[in-house]
Amino acid sequence: MDELKALTGRNLLEPGDFSEAEMDALFDLADRIQQAPERYAGAARGRVLAALFFEPSTRTRLSFETAMLRLGGQTVGFSEAQSSSAAKGESIADTVRTVGCYSDITVIRHPKEGSCRVAAMHSDVPVVNAGDGGHHHPTQTLTDLLTIRREKGRIDRLRVGLCGDLKFGRTVHSLIKALSVHEGIEFVLISPEELRAPAYVIRMIEAGGCVCTETRSMSDVIGSLDILYMTRVQKERFFNEEDYIRLKDSYILDGQKMGQAQEGMIVMHPLPRVNEIASEVDADPRAVYFKQARNGMYVRMALIMGLLGIGEPEALDRQMQEARG
Ligand code: NCD
Repeated sequence: MDELKALTGRNLLEPGDFSEAEMDALFDLADRIQQAPERYAGAARGRVLAALFFEPSTRTRLSFETAMLRLGGQTVGFSEAQSSSAAKGESIADTVRTVGCYSDITVIRHPKEGSCRVAAMHSDVPVVNAGDGGHHHPTQTLTDLLTIRREKGRIDRLRVGLCGDLKFGRTVHSLIKALSVHEGIEFVLISPEELRAPAYVIRMIEAGGCVCTETRSMSDVIGSLDILYMTRVQKERFFNEEDYIRLKDSYILDGQKMGQAQEGMIVMHPLPRVNEIASEVDADPRAVYFKQARNGMYVRMALIMGLLGIGEPEALDRQMQEARG
């Protein structure tokens, strides 16, 4: 419980901002919420979450908004830069400072790397990075780690394949950063030459003392994996349409490839998928990407409670009774 209290008023900008114990406490809370959501239905009553999305999103924005609504709080925000004052030339610093006058917590997605850190420097309320360019996406990582914990029963001693756009995929960068500090993780990075993970990401793996192999071939490695994390080629980060078209279908996971995988391997994907997983794979019990999306909502509920310093509902009831005398 003390770990949760320690999150009060903090920002989440990158994985690594929270300790392992703090993340475990969030995952435990997410489990408790999922088991008895009605107990938490009024936990954030009277609080407001602002969702500032300068870049398109379905899951992240809607799961944050639903998370807040399911806790009894309210949400405001915008889902494209054109409908905000950014279109008039306002800086992100001024936008967050203003929005912090109205809300208790601000969630930001922005196409520029580092923008959420700048925002946090100017915000009086907690800031959550919901994706900054090709850099980080820490709440997707919370979603991913919770899914791994639930599906595999542990977050260590795993052989994890990450496949697709490892260059621009921020979910991959964040997940690697978070997993590298766990014991016995072996990374298998599967990508075309042009979409290899950046050097700083490889250095994070080495700094964590983890093993890493790079390959172009999914078929060569799929049989050895505990987890296969598929990603879409990030069209919006390409400078040139021809390169995108050439690379977009580099990997397609289908039923035949799943036949080469272990019985216990799980397939994850942050979604949206484009072509990289054939829809026939959805019916395979090893495909957990829709469960993963659901987990994302529960872990965001836990995160909102943590950052807003909201305790367990019994404690809330007690406080209110004491206040009434
Ligand atoms: C990811 C993102 O925005 O980085 N989506 C998400 O948040 N679930 C992955 C992607 O867009 O490919």
